[in-house]
Amino acid sequence: MKEVVLSGIRATGNLHLGNYFGALNKFVRMQNDYDCLFFIADLHALTTHPDPKTLHSNVKNILAEYLAAGIDPDNATIFVQSDVPEISEMYLLLNMHVGIGELMRTASFKDKARKQLGIKSENEDIEKEIIGNESNKRVNAGLLTYPTLMAVDILIQKANKVPVGKDQEQHLELTRRFARRFNSFYGVDLFPEPANFDFGGAPVKVPGLDGSGKMGKSEGNCIYLIDEEKVLRKKVMRAVTDEGPKEPNSPVSQPVENLFTLMALTSAPEVVQQYRDAYADCSIRYGDLKKQLAEDILKITLPIRERIIEIQNDDALLSRVVRQGAEKARERASQTLREVREIMGIKKFY
Ligand code: TYM
Repeated sequence: MKEVVLSGIRATGNLHLGNYFGALNKFVRMQNDYDCLFFIADLHALTTHPDPKTLHSNVKNILAEYLAAGIDPDNATIFVQSDVPEISEMYLLLNMHVGIGELMRTASFKDKARKQLGIKSENEDIEKEIIGNESNKRVNAGLLTYPTLMAVDILIQKANKVPVGKDQEQHLELTRRFARRFNSFYGVDLFPEPANFDFGGAPVKVPGLDGSGKMGKSEGNCIYLIDEEKVLRKKVMRAVTDEGPKEPNSPVSQPVENLFTLMALTSAPEVVQQYRDAYADCSIRYGDLKKQLAEDILKITLPIRERIIEIQNDDALLSRVVRQGAEKARERASQTLREVREIMGIKKFY
């Protein structure tokens, strides 16, 4: 039997290079060798209160992007999270085994809670702020229990492998912990412990173009798969750099290292080496590096962009894919939910 692979992307906007190299590209490469399920996490998107119309169109966009990137719906199951109501029920059941404290300590929760409360400083006692806050600024319980919902997505399909980027590793660690806890609490062997997957390499963190952290929708530093050629070139040419190396073998600053990281993902190894050497002997011209980088990114994104445009208005295709996907995803989900209910003592006696 093939191992089960499951992963998803939140329906919060178009997909960017972070999503592509952290997740989507791996989905495409895994689909022939594993029993794959890929989904669009629309329930997770609700934690940050999207405009309902935008959420609806984002689901469709991401679906078109999945297909355009090369996921074959006859090979892998593609579904929308909210089409599988079993997930919501099991979310309630699993929450009974999840501690509020462990959820409050999750890095992504603290980050988002800080943003929702408008707290800038990392040192602020966030727990106190959340509990003590009586203004109309609140942190919703859905955000707190985000990792429970993600664990359920994975455990309800009994997935073995979960291809995600580095930023999701803490959530995956919690999923393993919840699986172990459930199994040992009831003395069962129901859930496998899922692992990240990256074809032998370390999970990637794709940097943004602004010289700082990771590429992310809320950071405004993204290159999108759907970006037009001109827009994309402009973004790359405007990427933050520095004044250039002053002496041979100088250390590389973070913004420039970010460009090398993007280059390592998109360009041929000898091209990356050529620019690294040019940096080391101070002959590098950032303008040339950026032109090359834009060229190599476009080789990946333009064909995908063309297919997105072809597919995004093909309502018949999009509906067929998710209808068929929901049916398959629900088969296994309802089986697991039946087992979980039974194990926890929720059984009919009539
Ligand atoms: P989301 O929607 O934030 O991101 C989707 C995927 O893209 C990866 N990613 C990145 N990888 C590398 N560098 C980046 N800059 C970057 N930005 C995003 C993420 O690691 C992720 O793999 N909680 C998940 C969605 C989810 C899920 C699941 C994933 C819900 N349930 C079950 C796997 C299994 C999320 O918010 O991903």
